[in-house]
Amino acid sequence: MEFVRLVLIFLHLLGMAMLVGMILLQLKTAKDGPLNKGWLHGVLLQLVTGVALVGIAYPLGKDVDNIKIGVKLLVLIAIGAVVAANLSKQKIATWLVPTLAALTVLNVGVAVFWR
Ligand code: HEM
Repeated sequence: MEFVRLVLIFLHLLGMAMLVGMILLQLKTAKDGPLNKGWLHGVLLQLVTGVALVGIAYPLGKDVDNIKIGVKLLVLIAIGAVVAANLSKQKIATWLVPTLAALTVLNVGVAVFWR
């Protein structure tokens, strides 16, 4: 069970790296759009692994901070909503990528500093 949790953390961290990678890729290759599909994959990976990490925390007797998890979930839903609403557009607003970047970094900050 502990090994499964470690695999989930491993995938969760790769998902974070994917989102950070998307920020850099988007700024370098298509600042004005279209949005890379990798955003959606990164969001889904974070959602699935994050929820699974919460699920596995209980049987392993780990503490779960529900407010912290709620904030992370809300931020991720905001990222997902912005991505879903703009994925099919050829041209995106100039504020879009900086906003996605800020929300992603915000969630990394919440994950690390909220203790
Ligand atoms: C953009 C979205 C997200 C990012 C960048 C992110 C980032 C991270 C990072 C960097 C960690 C490791 C922190 C540490 O161990 O000190 C972590 C852990 C964790 N995340 Fe996320 N996360 C995101 C979304 C979510 C969501 C939506 C959930 C739950 C629904 C979630 C649940 C968790 C849990 C439970 C852990 C703790 C793992 C453990 O140490 O047992 N995360 N996250």
